Amino acid sequence: MLLEVEHLRVAFRMEGVLSVPVRDVSFSVPENGRVALVGESGCGKSLTSLAVGGLVDRAEISGMISGSPRIAYIFQNPMQSLNPVMRVGKQIVEGLRRADPSISDKSAEARVLQLLESVGLPSATTRKFPCELSGGQQQRVMIAMALAQEPDLLIADEPTTALDVTTQKEVLDLVNRVADEHKTAVLLITHNLGLVAQYSKYVNVMYAGEIIERGTVPEVLGSPIHPYTQGLLAAVPRLDLPKDSPLVGIPGTVPPPTDWPSGCAFHPRCPKATAECARAVAKSCMTALR
Ligand SMILES: Nc1ncnc2c1ncn2[C@@H]1O[C@H](COP(=O)(O)OP(=O)(O)O)[C@@H](O)[C@H]1O
Ligand code: SF4
Ligand SMILES: [Mg+2]
Repeated sequence: MLLEVEHLRVAFRMEGVLSVPVRDVSFSVPENGRVALVGESGCGKSLTSLAVGGLVDRAEISGMISGSPRIAYIFQNPMQSLNPVMRVGKQIVEGLRRADPSISDKSAEARVLQLLESVGLPSATTRKFPCELSGGQQQRVMIAMALAQEPDLLIADEPTTALDVTTQKEVLDLVNRVADEHKTAVLLITHNLGLVAQYSKYVNVMYAGEIIERGTVPEVLGSPIHPYTQGLLAAVPRLDLPKDSPLVGIPGTVPPPTDWPSGCAFHPRCPKATAECARAVAKSCMTALR
């Protein structure tokens, strides 16, 4: 296994108040695997991925993270991740130097052009500032920067949420293609089950700081066991239904991590909840952790 995360917990103490956004997360990523982490906003997906890379400050972190893949991230909003006052080429060189501090200026320059070409950008992009590029082009630069670090694992955290739908597909196809070429695993973090179906082989569904269902994509999306996963799937808009069919959603919102509900954290929103669910997760729902 390239990466194995077991019982990860990430907690913060703020002015005496304990917040535990990640309570108990276990998942693994095989070499060159395509794994998704999916769930609504506020479930703890980003924090999980940042903790895996050792990027969370001032937190109490416990659990086991084994395997030490070289990780590179692609974040949601490329404009916020890129340095606005540095030309694109220079920013990519920073990634190259992280992987190989002794690389010469000339080799770095040649490698930048190669990387730009592999993400479908013209060589002139090297002299541009991020504000001179479109959102899709900026995300391509982020992918080039990630590749420059020669990662074993690419963590793509909502990489296309800020992009329009056609650019979304181009960017994810690109991530998939470069990951194939470089034999890199991809952990795709998203709230979009359509993207999971298209780009992942294995899926972990997260709710309230825990993985509540996992399995292969056909298992989980084809026959979801947990009512939360069933709710997420029912909320995906369908083109095969009449135009006036009502949109289905999961009632309520994800509670704050300072105040997770007792027992099964989903019980206040679950259409199948019984009185017992406020004390413990029903056995039938636990089988979703195949
Ligand atoms: N550094 C932090 N300190 C305190 N709380 C945080 C921090 N980072 C994230 N959180 C909280 O953790 C929860 C989960 O956040 P996040 O991992 O970003 O969720 P997701 O990516 O699933 O939307 C949120 O309620 C957020 O406010
Ligand atoms: S344990 Fe109960 S509340 Fe939780 S998902 Fe299952 S049925 Fe719903
Ligand atoms: Mg997030």
